[in-house]
Formats: sequence, C-alpha cells, structure tokens
Amino acid sequence: MPHRIKPFVVFLIITIFTAGILSLAPIATAVAQEEEQERPLSDFEALKSSFEEAYKAGDYTKAIAIGKEMNGIIEPRHWETLYNIGCAYAKAGEKGKAYEYLQKAIDANYMYAHGLMTDEDLESLRGENRFKQLVRAAWKNGYVWILERDERAEYQQLPRVMETLRLKKGERVADIGCGTGYFTIPVAKTVGPEGRVLAIDASQDMLDYLERRLTAEQLENVELKKVGRDDPELPAGGIELILMVDTFHYIKERTEYGRKLRAGLAPGGRLAVIDFRPKPWEERPWGPPPEQKMSKEELTVDLEKAGFKLIEDHDFLTEQFFIVYEAE
Ligand SMILES: C[S@@+](CC[C@H](N)C(=O)[O-])C[C@H]1O[C@@H](n2cnc3c(N)ncnc32)[C@H](O)[C@@H]1O
Repeated sequence: MPHRIKPFVVFLIITIFTAGILSLAPIATAVAQEEEQERPLSDFEALKSSFEEAYKAGDYTKAIAIGKEMNGIIEPRHWETLYNIGCAYAKAGEKGKAYEYLQKAIDANYMYAHGLMTDEDLESLRGENRFKQLVRAAWKNGYVWILERDERAEYQQLPRVMETLRLKKGERVADIGCGTGYFTIPVAKTVGPEGRVLAIDASQDMLDYLERRLTAEQLENVELKKVGRDDPELPAGGIELILMVDTFHYIKERTEYGRKLRAGLAPGGRLAVIDFRPKPWEERPWGPPPEQKMSKEELTVDLEKAGFKLIEDHDFLTEQFFIVYEAE
C-alpha cells in the first residue's frame, strides 16, 4: 500500500521548503514556484483523497496524474508522494517510470528499506537487481538517519566525550567504525591540520557519505579506509588514540581483534571504547540485537588477554559505557 501523508509532516515540510525556495530558487523557475506556493494546503488534502480513491479503484493513470499535481503543490522532492507515484507506476506495469519515481523518493530521503521489501504493490519489481539497489539505498538513508538523528545528542553528550578524550593538537587518531563521521569530524577539528585521523569502516556506503561531509567541511587531515570485518589494518605503532564508538559489539573474535588494535598503538597510546550497555529489548527497543550485546566486563576480560589494561571507566553516558585502555 502506498504511504499516507500525515498532516503535521505536510505542514512542517511546507514551512521548511517555503523558506528554502525563498532563498535558493533560481530566477528562471521563480514564477512557477510562486504559483505553486499560492495553492492552499486544502488543495493538497482534496487531491490526496482523489489520489487514494483512484488508487483503490485501480485507475493508476489517474492516480499518477493526481500524485504529480500533489507533488507540485507540496514539494518537488517530497518522498511520500514520490513513493506513491512510484507504486502507482508499478501497479500500472510501467516499470521504468516506477524505478524513476522510487529513485526520486530515495533521493528525497525515503529510508524504509523494510517497507520497500514488503510493499505488495511493488511485487512486480522484487527480485530485480535494480530493486535490490533501491532497497540498499533506502537502508543507507535509514542508517544515516539513526546515527545523525537529533535525539542522539541527548544521550551521546558529544562535547563531554570530546573533553574526556583529552586529545591534543597533532595527534594521530583511528576512528574505527567511523560511520557518518559523528566523531570523526570533531576529532579531526580537535587534532588540527598537523594531526591525522584514520577513518575506518567496513562499509563503503558510510565512507562515501563521510567523504562528502569532509569535502563540505573542508577537512583535509582525514584518510578514509575500507577494511574487512576482522582486521582494522592499522599502521604498526602509528596511533595515539584508537576510538571505537558503537562498533566493538560487531566484532566476533574480540581478543584476536584486540591484538591487532594493540599492534597499531604508538608507545603510551590509548584505546577508547564507547558501546551500548546491554539492556533488555523491552527497556530499549533499539541498539544491538541480543546476540551482539556485550558488557564492559566481558570486553575487558577479552582485551586483557590481548595485552590491554583498563585505565578509565566513565559512567556519565546513560545508554553506553565509556572505557579507556592502554597497552600493558
Ligand atoms: C553503529 S555505527 C557507529 C558509527 C560511528 N562510530 C558513530 O558513533 O556514529 C557502526 C559502524 O561500524 C561499522 N562496522 C561494523 N562492523 C565493522 C567492522 N568489523 N570493522 C569496521 N567497521 C565496522 C559499520 O559499517 C558502521 O558504520
């Protein structure tokens, strides 16, 4: 079934997008956009009912036309309408157009990979490689959203974590499992141009995303490195601080991995690990699945076998433990 558009989201998007249009629209399209802005929200609501009626009646050609009109009113890059138009094209048997609109929805930040995989209206596309790529792109949008969502700031306490890490200008840091660069960017700014950050991840999608952020931030002291899941491929003895945030729980052979980390540390170097405190799913219905849950005590036992000594244990984060080791 196509996605339904919630009125408050509609309002929010209109507000944000109107501001965007006023500051950014090229002159050539200004007149057309002004006309779009003049159409009231009630037009959109009326069209929405007509869209749903046509869709339910199986008149996909009509639904597509209405969907495009709705999309013109509300925002040319609004993912819900774009997604719904994609569904209507799929039902109408126009696969090329269905892919075009689903791709537009993803470019506009559609992020429900599971929705794509289970939407019965997209049955005709399932199994095709192009469809799998869409699912992957939607999954990536969702992952980025999870890492960067506003609520994370509350529990992550980035400024306090950064202060506690006591990084110095010129230091070499490895951010393993760097993801979108939530920590990579502040770390790179803290160590400054004379320092280096090795941003390491097993996912090329994440590294590509981070690369764009680094360009936007004009940061040139970060090197991106794609690695396999069981080896961070650190330069021997070259790193003052290894940082692993919400990543160690993915590691299967922790002691073996710890030995590789230790080999990468410079004399006096530290390993800082922040990871989710194990909590029952009923208490926190997100975070690592049960089989990946790992306590700081379990991690410490495994890392001691790899030659690490626990030197700091900070408990100011509500969702995560934050511990620091040095080589024995
Ligand atoms: C939950 S995210 C955390 C990202 C980032 N550290 C943050 O705090 O926002 C975990 C990241 O680790 C990466 N990852 C998972 N297993 C990995 C492994 N074995 N080696 C390197 N990266 C890994 C994932 O691709 C993902 O980007």
